[in-house]
Amino acid sequence: MDCGARLNKILILSVIFIIFILGYTHDWRSQDEQIYSRVSQRTITPLYPYLLEEDGKCADGAPFLLLLIPSAPQEFHTRNILRNTWANESLVNGVRINRLFLLGKSESNEEKVMQESNRFHDILMQDFTDSYYNLTIKTLMGMEWVSRLCPNVKYIMKIDSDMFFNPWFLMEKILQPESPPKKNFLTGLIVHDALPHRDKGSKWYVSTKTYSKKFYPLYCSGTGYVFSGDMAKKIYLAAAGLPPFPFEDVFVGMCLQKLGVRIFEPSEKWFIGEKVPYDRCKFTKLITVHRFTPEELMTIWPDFLAALKTCNKN
Ligand SMILES: *[C@@H]1O[C@H](CO)[C@@H](O)[C@H](O)[C@H]1NC(C)=O
Ligand SMILES: *[C@@H]1O[C@H](CO)[C@@H](O)[C@H](O)[C@H]1NC(C)=O
Repeated sequence: MDCGARLNKILILSVIFIIFILGYTHDWRSQDEQIYSRVSQRTITPLYPYLLEEDGKCADGAPFLLLLIPSAPQEFHTRNILRNTWANESLVNGVRINRLFLLGKSESNEEKVMQESNRFHDILMQDFTDSYYNLTIKTLMGMEWVSRLCPNVKYIMKIDSDMFFNPWFLMEKILQPESPPKKNFLTGLIVHDALPHRDKGSKWYVSTKTYSKKFYPLYCSGTGYVFSGDMAKKIYLAAAGLPPFPFEDVFVGMCLQKLGVRIFEPSEKWFIGEKVPYDRCKFTKLITVHRFTPEELMTIWPDFLAALKTCNKN
């Protein structure tokens, strides 16, 4: 075989290989190509029909702070523990806090979720598949709900269910209920110069077709970010026209960039993205800490409540 024929053979084999790879790579993108374009700029309407809407939650006035907590339908146990720890609505004296768990649909747990919802009235559920790559849809469900049914809420905290959260410190250092409410405000654990994952095996894989730039825009880690009530509608409307993107925190960063809203940088490290061993007095001066199982939370919570009373405030 001469050199030219061999090269030709290699070329043909490579092309076949590439076609094979492209054809068999799972792409979360394909099904939801048009999804955010359903956002109307005139009237706020949901992306998917609500199965649980809680449309009366803000009827008697908006809360100061609304917690939006993404949760999978089968996580009954976690939700119960959160209700008894940091997502307890009556923790902070004199401040109205409400919580809503954000769920997609799961056939097998539907009846049990309905019963839970009847009891606690703290679940939003829309008719989309509950999955990791649909988390952006889940966040947008929360944004839509606030824009339409609770537009006067002062602040919203989107927080994951595997977190430690200290609402008192959030009030003291950032939200300050006695001051005039902020506008165009969003803060949390800022992620700078994040690189899209380009290896196909990664959970966070993003093709250059989906996102071509070298870096992601500035965004706040989805583990816990807090924003002023006005931002919900702005973010929801900004989503229209953006390409589908599965990682909700990066996606919110894209919306902020489109809106020209600058993320507020906290003056100290109060939002912690990694696991930090529990330290009672240290934790009274943090807002969020990543990675707490429901069991760990339940174990530390009584001690943490005691620490709030006894640890030095300075
Ligand atoms: C919520 O917190 C209040 C005030 O600390 C407490 O009295 C109540 O028992 C708590 N509720 C739950 C369900 O843990
Ligand atoms: C997201 O939900 C939609 C609507 O149920 C579904 O068609 C799609 O497959 C889901 N996407 C993923 C990646 O799970």
